[in-house]
Amino acid sequence: MRLDYTSDLWWKNAVVYCLDVETYADSDGDGVGDFRGLIDRVDHLADLGVTCLWLMPFYPSPNRDDGYDISDYYGVDPRLGTLGDVVEFLRTAKDRGMRVIVDLVVNHTSDEHPWFTESRSSLEAARRDWYVWRPEPSDHPAGLAFPDKETSNWQRDRRTGEYYLHRFYRFQPDLNIANPAVRDEICKIAAFWLALGVSGFRMDAVPFLLELDGIREHMDGDPKRWLQSLRSFVGRRNGEAMLLGEVNAAMKDLSSYFGGADGDALNMQFAFLLNQSLWLSLARGEGEPLEQIISALPVVPHDNAWATFLRNHDELTLDQLTVSQREEVFAAFGPKPGMQLYGHGLRRRTAAMLGGDGPRLRMAWSLMFSLPGTPALFMGDEIGMGEQLRIPDRYAVRVPMQWSRGRNGGFSTAAAGDLVRPLAGGGFGPAAVNVADQRRDPGSLLRFLRRLIRVRRETPELGWGSSTLIETADPALFAHRVEWEGSTVIAIHNLAGRPATAELDLGPRADGVHDLLADAEEPARRGRLPVSLDAYGGRWLRVRRR
Ligand code: NOJ
Repeated sequence: MRLDYTSDLWWKNAVVYCLDVETYADSDGDGVGDFRGLIDRVDHLADLGVTCLWLMPFYPSPNRDDGYDISDYYGVDPRLGTLGDVVEFLRTAKDRGMRVIVDLVVNHTSDEHPWFTESRSSLEAARRDWYVWRPEPSDHPAGLAFPDKETSNWQRDRRTGEYYLHRFYRFQPDLNIANPAVRDEICKIAAFWLALGVSGFRMDAVPFLLELDGIREHMDGDPKRWLQSLRSFVGRRNGEAMLLGEVNAAMKDLSSYFGGADGDALNMQFAFLLNQSLWLSLARGEGEPLEQIISALPVVPHDNAWATFLRNHDELTLDQLTVSQREEVFAAFGPKPGMQLYGHGLRRRTAAMLGGDGPRLRMAWSLMFSLPGTPALFMGDEIGMGEQLRIPDRYAVRVPMQWSRGRNGGFSTAAAGDLVRPLAGGGFGPAAVNVADQRRDPGSLLRFLRRLIRVRRETPELGWGSSTLIETADPALFAHRVEWEGSTVIAIHNLAGRPATAELDLGPRADGVHDLLADAEEPARRGRLPVSLDAYGGRWLRVRRR
């Protein structure tokens, strides 16, 4: 590994774990998770082996969008703790070798944010132009984030009779990033959390943040240039600061969010297109959708990376598949209308969609971890938690963490009715799925994921290398080869529920492989290796050369 071009780019070989403090662990029995509870569980995370914790919003908020409606960017929701508790948590995570990134939600504020209260008060208000106002509504921008709840992106405000832009719910007015004062404030927010010890940000809703509808005439230059200056600012404040963007955008636009070939905008973006095709591949039991998307994705600049994932805290959005492809995924993983959302998404969790712990679920994790990029998990994935469909909307997947089979799954000692959110039900409740039992069981999903994470960390080729697809005769197989610094790793997975075989060409001078997940050596014959995979089997192979 060469220091001059790899050192400190920690996100290139990280394993990210997303959690919500509110539903993680409750230390004081009020039914709401808190930072002190989280601190008590940091060793679970260190033991799992994840290297970067992403905290969902924990700021003061009216909580109408689970904290994505912020009313104070410089504080902590008092139900969750204090700034002092945040600092103690950051110190404890660092002590155990984990970095922390936090959600930076600056496309919009809550309508209860004092900035908005002031902005809406009159046409002449000092902060009037901190938000996006127009005298009449408009059809632009087109498309609604929450078509079940909103009919327009513009909301009339009775105080002045003008309309404000809100790309999400009407109680989330969009900030005006054409205003230099707003941009400076965003820098200050980032600087504040960096000063407390975070290592970067998961940036919410980046394409919406950069959108020009309503502000075009006021924007000085391309908004992507502003993203570059934000990145440069955070890098000056803290050399290790990383921006990981939520970018669910069209293929042709993805490269520009990295900053084109220079890679000087977002360090990372979530690979939404890859994710949607991955679910289509899983539904079909075929590698082809994944192969297609991987061939079409833009080249990632050297210092940048995709964040790969199976599921996150929102709906599984399938908005970029065709209608018939989406129907295939719905039929396979969410056939009941109550599992679907907005007509294009599923409000289910990974383990429940894949039938609980078993070869298919484990293959999906092994496959995702082997794809080009940095893998990200959602809290509870490590034990295979399921959703609670009785909870409306996307909240169905944001159930409290299940620590034990005890009261409220060990999440809280409060009365069940006082919990911030009900627990997962059915076969996925705490009696069947919990951390304590899986810690003791050598064959558990928790132990499997812990090993997968360790091996992924020991295989930097997957994060750093350049990947090429390997053609296989059997359509059930997906195989690719990653080359980095003279080392070659081949990952091959069987997406079907029947056995499959392939013969791999290991390349010149190859005399065998090290099977990384099984930790076993296997010889090759004249540079070729026959591979037999069980139903939903998978292997990661590092090529051994003479
Ligand atoms: C994306 C977040 O992931 C989602 O949960 C939220 O509702 C919207 N952005 C609005 O902030």
